[in-house]
Amino acid sequence: MLRISLNLNEPTMILCICKAVSEREIDAAVRSGASTLAAVGERCSGAGTDCGMCHEAIEERLEGSCASCPRVRDCHATPPALASAAL
Ligand code: FES
Repeated sequence: MLRISLNLNEPTMILCICKAVSEREIDAAVRSGASTLAAVGERCSGAGTDCGMCHEAIEERLEGSCASCPRVRDCHATPPALASAAL
């Protein structure tokens, strides 16, 4: 089950006009593991599956995500100094 939490008090921009999907929804899908345009479409009411005008904006968000980074394991690992200090 995919849960997406939205704060409706903050403004957001619609990235996919055809499917009325906001940047916040797309960012949430990327954070929850969507790593391709197709995966974002599956998790976000078909975002990017109609005219394609939003593809570049969605791909920019995918490229900036941890899921697309080859160093994600190193980046998310706890530094040794912090790990010992926490004990
Ligand atoms: S604007 Fe996203 S598919 Fe048309």
